[in-house]
Amino acid sequence: MKITPAGTARITLSTLLEMKAAGRKMAFLTAYDYPTAALAQAAGVHGLLVGDSLATVLLGHPNTRAAPLHLMITLAEAVRRGAPNVYLIGDMPYEAVTGGPQAALGAAERFCREAGCDAVKLEATEGDEQLVRSLTAAGVPVIAHLGLRPQQVLSPDGYRAQARDAESVARLVDDARRLVAAGAVMLLLEAVPNEASAAVVAEVAVPVIGCGAGPACDGHILVTQDMLGLSTVRPPRFVPLLAQVGEVMLEAMRGYVQQVLEGRYPGPEHVYHMRNRREDNGR
Ligand code: KIV
Repeated sequence: MKITPAGTARITLSTLLEMKAAGRKMAFLTAYDYPTAALAQAAGVHGLLVGDSLATVLLGHPNTRAAPLHLMITLAEAVRRGAPNVYLIGDMPYEAVTGGPQAALGAAERFCREAGCDAVKLEATEGDEQLVRSLTAAGVPVIAHLGLRPQQVLSPDGYRAQARDAESVARLVDDARRLVAAGAVMLLLEAVPNEASAAVVAEVAVPVIGCGAGPACDGHILVTQDMLGLSTVRPPRFVPLLAQVGEVMLEAMRGYVQQVLEGRYPGPEHVYHMRNRREDNGR
């Protein structure tokens, strides 16, 4: 597979702000590896998130709390190599945000310095404005994640759509306003009604990216594997199934097993020969 890059200009926060001002939508995806990142950039994706969703999607854990920081840094580096021009976001894993302000700052700086991320994303909980302020002061741009926050999976109201009544929309708007005032350069809203997103977009000047948050958002993000039919669990209802890559892989793997069992693989074209045969260049 040859990957041809789309456009060459590096996408920065200024690019995203200009897009918002011009009413142009932004397309974000998750990526955890080099080839997916290269394909996403070639497809014209504006931003990639190395999400802590890798804990469930790649590692098979029951929730995102198990995402290891060291692995996320390594994978973020690979994603940056694959997509040098996208706006790259490192997701602050549970491990980093529950280890105290110094651990959080250290993790955020590693995402930017070692992996080449442009920003980190933080699932904002009560009182996180101070953390946003200190990361911002240290030169790390922060994206605040509101609405459904998967790291809250164990709280009673944790893993379901949020802000579904007027009172909680007002709270969401208030949180959004406070986090932006603390320095958040963008917001990510997950699983909230379009009315809630519209209220947030009307309140803040920064780009608002939705993950199942309706058309009012300035841009959208999906977990790539969900969209490609590569999930082992049923994706949320807001995910469009744009390909059945899992089915394609399964068919190919079945074909391989069949060929081995029937002795059709390896065929003559897959076999190395002794050096004295001229047509064999060793590859
Ligand atoms: O970790 C992740 O992939 C995310 C997206 C669902 C936005 O936070």
